[in-house]
Amino acid sequence: MAYQTEYTRSIEHPELFWQEKAADIPWFKAPTQILGKDELGTDRWFLDGELNTCYAALDYHVENGRADQVAVIYDSPVTDTKSKLTYRDMRDQVARFAGGLAKLGISKGDRVVIYMPMVPEALIAMYACARLGAVHSVVFGGFAPHELAVRINDATPKAVISASCGIEINKVIPYKNMLDEALNQAEHKPDHCVILQRPQHQGEMTDGRDLDWNQVAEADPVDCVPVKATDPLYILYTSGTTGKPKGVVRDNGGHAVALKYSMKAIYDMDAGDVFMAASDVGWVVGHSYIVYAPLLAGCTTIVYEGKPVKTPDAGAFWRLIEEYQIKAFFTAPTAFRAVKKEDPEGELLQKYDISCLKALYLAGERLDPPTYHWLKELSQLPVVDHWWQTETGWAIAGNLMGIEPVEAKAGSATYPVPGFNVQILDNKGEPMPAGEQGSVVIKQPMPPGCLTTVWGDHDRFQNSYMKIYPGYYLTGDGGYLDKDGYLFIMGRTDDVINVAGHRLSTGEMEEIIASHAGVAECAVIGINDELKGQLPVGLVITKDGWQGTPEALEAELAALVRQEIGAIACYKQTLVVDRLPKTRSGKILRKILRSIADGKEYQVPSTIDDPASLKEIEQAMATHKVGAAS
Ligand code: COA
Ligand code: AMP
Repeated sequence: MAYQTEYTRSIEHPELFWQEKAADIPWFKAPTQILGKDELGTDRWFLDGELNTCYAALDYHVENGRADQVAVIYDSPVTDTKSKLTYRDMRDQVARFAGGLAKLGISKGDRVVIYMPMVPEALIAMYACARLGAVHSVVFGGFAPHELAVRINDATPKAVISASCGIEINKVIPYKNMLDEALNQAEHKPDHCVILQRPQHQGEMTDGRDLDWNQVAEADPVDCVPVKATDPLYILYTSGTTGKPKGVVRDNGGHAVALKYSMKAIYDMDAGDVFMAASDVGWVVGHSYIVYAPLLAGCTTIVYEGKPVKTPDAGAFWRLIEEYQIKAFFTAPTAFRAVKKEDPEGELLQKYDISCLKALYLAGERLDPPTYHWLKELSQLPVVDHWWQTETGWAIAGNLMGIEPVEAKAGSATYPVPGFNVQILDNKGEPMPAGEQGSVVIKQPMPPGCLTTVWGDHDRFQNSYMKIYPGYYLTGDGGYLDKDGYLFIMGRTDDVINVAGHRLSTGEMEEIIASHAGVAECAVIGINDELKGQLPVGLVITKDGWQGTPEALEAELAALVRQEIGAIACYKQTLVVDRLPKTRSGKILRKILRSIADGKEYQVPSTIDDPASLKEIEQAMATHKVGAAS
């Protein structure tokens, strides 16, 4: 009942509902206009409100009795370091670093790109931008220089904040060298780069442009700059269907209100509790649940520079939970699949007392039923699969631990979260009956916290999300609601794939592969993988007269994708084929290719141009041992 009441109210009376929730945030000027449209006709929340996100997450708590509470715990098995920062430490260090940025000429509305590993300085940099009203754009450290350059060109930052290196299992990633390479490639040149030098590798500095972190961090502290609720807090790039990533823009007011609400409603967290999201600050999970939400809620957050396995073993998560008395733990299913692979019987868990933990939260990809059952049996705790996207910034559906936990169904993200009016439509825009799969959409208005535009390209925002079904936001996911109202998300309906919880575009990989001199035509599909969820596989038609071998081409394409996107793309397999199955109008039948690879039955559409091509593909996949087709 509690859930139903809360949900219904959020849908029937959104303004009253969110006005009430907004009272939980320390505004400089409380909003009176709760929901309205901006000049481009987009729904916006808290239009006349003023606040500062850094103030709400740090200063407010320092001023209200939490100054000595630990805000950030840094745990880094890869550097053998542990440290803690109180709310006062954070406020003071952020205020000084913001002062240093201000001296570099950064002010409200300016963009700052942050390319950093999982160190507390990444959070300090993000909050320092928020303090000034500057707009940060964090780029995941696993992206190659080319990807960083694309984002620098799009966001046109005044400064880039980075580190000399990141540390992966047994290897040092020279971030500063990668940044220099990106800046060579980029047309836009920032005025300054601020570099955190780490002992594992020193970055070479360019006179006049590069500054040492410590130089900037020693400036006089500055106060929080009031911004409008609708002013942007950050841009976070995510993969779309083309080679150009989409800059998701998040505002300040809606973001703060939604995240604060979610900490109690979804995760049942109270001020003083310890929350851990094992992700990376470069992803939306990191933005929302490592950096902002835990501190907005007065909790303690954990910055973990390590992996679920091999740093040093598959007991790492259990060790963290016990050591820091974590109440809610959040990661991607792939991380627990890696743990399961190394410690299937959960023997390492027996070494730790995790009685502090109340629930496990999974997102980033569908929690597959075998992993769900394994985790549930092992932990004897609620295992919450919750579904969200970079665009929404917080969960669209989940089992709401702070409102009314319900019996979970394996494979389902449970119920829509209050504020999200989730519906399933067919391709004509008609509602689908319970149990039938269709396009998952959200009826507008979207709740606070969701994207407000695509940076620099409002048409793309309209065309990608808002125009396909007028009045609805298109999630790009397919799924269904069962007769009990449980939501099942079954996968993307576009060319986006999910590799180890990392969202990637097959369209972008196709563009890179097509640039190879031997490639006439190609298609990249995501195939199921037991550990990483999905893996990309390329099907390539070579140019007439091309002299190379398929083996050499496979190695060259793997190297090319790694060089352009980064190691995280995990692109390894290429199949050379004579033909690709297409419709008569020339569209490659990617869905059928995926079905063949995953060993699923498929229907041959009447519009297919060359049905015989399918047999060839089946054979090529079997010979090449691709997915289930092998
Ligand atoms: N910086 C630089 N390189 C990185 C990187 C980073 N931040 N993160 C990953 N990479 C590299 C890895 O070193 C690896 O390189 P390699 O091919 O040279 O070995 C490559 O990218 C692939 O990495 P990954 O897919 O992470 O595979 P893995 O085998 O190293 O680890 C898991 C597997 C499951 C342990 C790991 O993927 C994981 O922890 N996933 C969780 C992801 C997550 O939190 N997603 C956020 C959504 S909630
Ligand atoms: P990202 O924007 O990187 O967070 O990726 C979002 C996409 O990941 C979604 O559109 C889904 O396809 C997928 N996803 C995330 N969480 C889940 C989940 N719990 N269940 C199913 N798919 C998910």
